[in-house]
Amino acid sequence: MKALLTAGGHGTRLQPLTHTQNKHLIPIANKPMIHFALEYLKEAGIIEVGIIINAGDTSFPEVLGDGSNWGIKITYIEQEAPLGLAHVVKIAEPFIGEEPFVFYLGDNILVGGIKKFIDTFKTQKSNCHLVLSQVGDPTRFGVAEIKDDKILNIEEKPLNPKSNYAVTGIYFYDKSIFEAVNAIKPSARGELEISDAHQYLLDHNKKITFSEITGWWKDTGNPADLLEANRLVTDNIVHKIYAQVDESNQIFGRVIIEQGAKLKNCVIRGPAIIGKNSVLVDAYIGPFTSISDGCFIGNSEVEYSIVMEGSRIQDAGIRIEGSLIGKNVDIVKAKSKPRTQRFMIGDQSRVELL
Ligand code: G1P
Repeated sequence: MKALLTAGGHGTRLQPLTHTQNKHLIPIANKPMIHFALEYLKEAGIIEVGIIINAGDTSFPEVLGDGSNWGIKITYIEQEAPLGLAHVVKIAEPFIGEEPFVFYLGDNILVGGIKKFIDTFKTQKSNCHLVLSQVGDPTRFGVAEIKDDKILNIEEKPLNPKSNYAVTGIYFYDKSIFEAVNAIKPSARGELEISDAHQYLLDHNKKITFSEITGWWKDTGNPADLLEANRLVTDNIVHKIYAQVDESNQIFGRVIIEQGAKLKNCVIRGPAIIGKNSVLVDAYIGPFTSISDGCFIGNSEVEYSIVMEGSRIQDAGIRIEGSLIGKNVDIVKAKSKPRTQRFMIGDQSRVELL
């Protein structure tokens, strides 16, 4: 079985972070988001992975190479323009060929991986197996109407959803999906919608089955989703301190402190991760925080936040919370008013605090 993994798009809801890096490379618990999908695929025994990237984007080949470090084989497939998820499947047909495959949207993070869904797809001998999750706001997703354990129809981002079952970005197909993506027409927003391809399969009496995610699943489209994903992943870390941490510090709960990190007079309340060579002095790091490599936190408090590589926070005054801080950002004490602390800061930004 092969896999097709999306890593394109423009991540507009995550700007300015996505001005300088692809959304799928934003770190969750100090790992680029796309690593999670690759781990789930590897764990499910999938070796051949096609990654769909924006035309001209060299960041993935630079970060992931040919996949040999992972024991997988990556083929990069460029999408010329964002013409929809069904278009992604369409252009990947030469890579996939005739065999069944997993289509995985690289910004979906879930607990427990995907192996069990593959097994169900195979046992049920479906043409298409969807993974559904009940959500509070179905209007953001493809929505499935279900009766007697069968999917009746699927609509993309309906204004009046017929159920609260969102179609997650994890799909299993046989070759009949190619007939669908080649037959459907672009939607009002000019894209070939994956939900229309699913509806085509239903209309043509193909067998669509589904599993429901009862645990945690997140499509990380906006800043709040990223922080929630970071909460979930840090909540599952295994306590491990690789650095020398002396008695001037107090560590509570599960934390990972990577090699070369230096801490002095700090309180770390896990779950939290401190990256390699980061320096923390007189700092409080609260639950669900990821501090990447090479950061400096001095006389400041950070909680429920992601701080990316090389950023510096000094004398922040008020606790920083619920914040996404890009790479090489400087946050320092400033004199001007008003006092407020809620950030979404892109790479190379600088913020002056009171
Ligand atoms: C896409 C699909 C949608 C699906 C969602 C899951 O939406 O079009 O049907 O429910 O992924 O992540 P997008 O997140 O691209 O708006």
